[in-house]
Amino acid sequence: MRARRIDIHSHFFPPVSRADSAMLCSPDAPWLRDDGGGAGAIMSGDEEYRPVEAALWDPVERLADMDRSGTSIQVISATPILFSYSCEPSIGAQWAAKINDLASEMCAVDPVRLRPMSHAPLQDIDAACREVSRAKANGHVGVHIGNHVDGRNLDDPELVRFLHHCADYEIPVFVHPWNTMAPERMTRYMLKWLVGMPAETHLAILSLILSGAFERLPEGLRICFAHGGGNFAAQLARVDNAWRRRDIISADCPRPPSHYADRFWIDSAVFGDAALRLQTELMGLDRIMMGSDYPFPLGEIDPGDLIDRSGFLDDDQRDMLLFRNADAFFGLDAEGEFA
Ligand code: CO
Repeated sequence: MRARRIDIHSHFFPPVSRADSAMLCSPDAPWLRDDGGGAGAIMSGDEEYRPVEAALWDPVERLADMDRSGTSIQVISATPILFSYSCEPSIGAQWAAKINDLASEMCAVDPVRLRPMSHAPLQDIDAACREVSRAKANGHVGVHIGNHVDGRNLDDPELVRFLHHCADYEIPVFVHPWNTMAPERMTRYMLKWLVGMPAETHLAILSLILSGAFERLPEGLRICFAHGGGNFAAQLARVDNAWRRRDIISADCPRPPSHYADRFWIDSAVFGDAALRLQTELMGLDRIMMGSDYPFPLGEIDPGDLIDRSGFLDDDQRDMLLFRNADAFFGLDAEGEFA
């Protein structure tokens, strides 16, 4: 196993009680039920959304897991059910500040190894810009956002304005799929995760490319997409072909979609050597960062195992994916911490 590793895709759920989440004024408001003995559940109103274990909210448990798996640093982001973009804007801003302050409290247990990404109240872009800048001043190393807000894709002018703010203030962005499409046809077999999430992420990336948003956004924007960018890599040649054949596809996008593959990053949560190899070929070795989706069951049980075992990478290349790319992306300057 390589000695240093940064996990850029790991989730937490702060100890938010049912009374805390009442501020969201929603019957489905998310909260955490702690059953004791290390067990609990993410709740959605009265419904049990998912059983969870203490590592999700207890930083001491989390650090013990990191010791076991050899993870040097986790960049932690809230569980997407907490986004709450549909609540009233002034409440959304208070909620984001609450989540961000609770994340700071969790990470204070070991501020070198646990680094928080902030939550942004994207229902109000001015408030979101204020909150992510406040969070940055408090030590948050980036912002974690959903791939759509209130039926709008990332190419929505207000959301592009938010991304512009993040570029201007050097706040890295991590995009996670959530509230997946066509839920009425994905009620079984975790199809929302298996089909909906990779499709949502593909949609988010293509919305930025085909709208020409990457032409207008500063090249310094650091933006990363979860789950290896979903279906993007596998479908890129199809999209390029379509761009050449139909002017309704190329109307707002002056260059082939593959041209923009170096404008964003992806994580390594793809679970197969062939998929990882395709992504390194299409995007470049410097665009991929180790991400496990810890501590959820669809994540990589041993974070970085795919990179460790990959047959086509040498040790220097493994270090890029396990550590160096993330160190640069988030500006952690962690190289010295674990020398
Ligand atoms: Co995730």
